[in-house]
Amino acid sequence: MDLIIKNGTVITGSQTFRADIGVEQGKIAVIAERLACEALSVVDAAGLYVLPGGVDVHTHLELPVGATVSADSYHAGTRAAVCGGVTTVFDYPTQQQGKGIVQTVAERRALAEAGACCDYAFHCAITDLGAGDALLKEFQAAADYGITSFKCYMVYRKAGLMVDDGVLLKILEKARDIGILTAVHAENHDVLESRIAGYSAEGKTSPWYHYMSRPEFVEAEAIKRAIHWAAAVKAPLYIVHLACKEGLEAIAAARSQGYPMYAETCPQYLEFTCDVYKQELGRNFVCSPSIKGPESREALWQGIRQGIIDTVATDHCPFMQAEKDWGIQDFTKIPNGCAGIENRYPYMLGAANTGRISFSKAVEVCAEKPAALFGCTDKGSISVGKDADIVLYDPQKDFEISVKNMHSDYDHTIWEGIRLKGYPLKTFLRGQLVFDQGNYVGVPGTGRYITRKKSCLI
Ligand code: URP
Ligand code: ZN
Ligand code: ZN
Repeated sequence: MDLIIKNGTVITGSQTFRADIGVEQGKIAVIAERLACEALSVVDAAGLYVLPGGVDVHTHLELPVGATVSADSYHAGTRAAVCGGVTTVFDYPTQQQGKGIVQTVAERRALAEAGACCDYAFHCAITDLGAGDALLKEFQAAADYGITSFKCYMVYRKAGLMVDDGVLLKILEKARDIGILTAVHAENHDVLESRIAGYSAEGKTSPWYHYMSRPEFVEAEAIKRAIHWAAAVKAPLYIVHLACKEGLEAIAAARSQGYPMYAETCPQYLEFTCDVYKQELGRNFVCSPSIKGPESREALWQGIRQGIIDTVATDHCPFMQAEKDWGIQDFTKIPNGCAGIENRYPYMLGAANTGRISFSKAVEVCAEKPAALFGCTDKGSISVGKDADIVLYDPQKDFEISVKNMHSDYDHTIWEGIRLKGYPLKTFLRGQLVFDQGNYVGVPGTGRYITRKKSCLI
C-alpha cells in the first residue's frame, strides 16, 4: 500500500464505523477493521474522524465583475479549499455572446491548470443562445466535455448575464433531453431593480437597502417561476444559493409531487440574518440573494435536516475590502459576493459537533450528494474505488476563524471571530497530503480537471 490511515472513525453519509483505510495509486483500495499489511506511509488517526474530502459545487474564482475580478485566483481559492478539507471545487465560467460553451470552459480550464491545488470541475453559466438558438446545438458537446450542468441567471440584466423566461424554458428542455442539470439564480429582476431605483431616489443607500431591495418575496417569486417552467416541461432543476423559507417550501411541494427539483444553500444564509446589513461593515455581507430574516435561517436548517436541501456550497466570491468600500455611500456600488471556500466544511462539521445536524448529514450535503448530483463519480465518499480524497478531522480542536489563519488572497472575512468546535487536521488529495495542521503542504498544479459524467440522481 502507499498509505494506510489507521484507527480512525470513518463517517459516510449513512454510517459511522471504526476502520483502517488502505490507499494505492491515489484510490481507496481497501477498508477493513484492521489492516496488517505494510505501507510506505502510515498515519494514526486514533481519536480522529475520517471523512471524504469536501465537494464545493459553487465558486467564482478569478471572476470578472464590473471593474474588478473576484479576489481569489484559481490557485489561491483551491489552496484555501484544501485547507478547509475541500478536495473538489466547481467553478462557474460565464458564456458570453458569440462564444461557445466548450470554448468558454476550456479557456477557464487553461487558467486553472497551472496553480490548482485541488481537483476542479466547471458548470457553465449560459447567457446567450445566439442567432437561431445555435448554442442549443452545442449542449451535447458540452456534456461530452464534462459540463453536465448549466446555470441561468434570472438577474443581472445590466451585466449581460440574465436570461429571460423564454430562453430559460428552451435551455431547460434541451438540457433535459441530453441529461444536463439546469441550475438557476432565482430572484425577480424587474422588482428588485425598481425597488433599488426607489430607495436610491429617496437617498436610502446604506447596505440595509440591499436587503430591502431584494427581500424574501423577491427571491421566492423567481424560485416558484423557475419551478413552474421546469415542471411544465418535466426538466430537472437545481436552485443555487437558496436563502428563503418560501422558496424552500415551494421546492418541497414540487418534490412531493414527484418533480426532480434540487436545492443548495450556503453557510452565510445559515449563520447570519439580514441584521448584518445594519452593522458598520454591513457592506461586507452584500451578496445576492441577500441574507434573509431569522425565519428563513431556521427553515434552511430544517430543510437540511429533512433532506429538502441537497447540498451546502459556498458561492465563494470574495472581494478586497477596498472594493467593498466602493459602496460606503451607496450599496449599489458594492461588488456582490462573500468568502467561504475554506469555512463551509468546518462550519457544517462544527454544526454536527454541537448537535445541530448529524455528522453523516454534514458529509452528505458537503461531499456525497454534491458529487453524486453533479456526476463526479470518483469523488465525495469513503468507499473502495473512489479517489482517496480524505480529511482527518479533530472533533476536540477549538478553532476561531480569522482572516489571519485562512489561506486565500482576500484581506477580510465575514466569518471573522466565529468559533468552531472541531477542525480538519489533515487533507489528502488522491492520497497525497496537501494540508497538515494549519499549513498548505501540497504542490500547486496537482489539481486535475474532472470530466464529469451525467448526474447519478436525476
Ligand atoms: O453575490 C453573489 N452571489 N455573487 C456571485 C454571483 C452569483 O450570483 O452567484
Ligand atoms: Zn448567483
Ligand atoms: Zn454564485
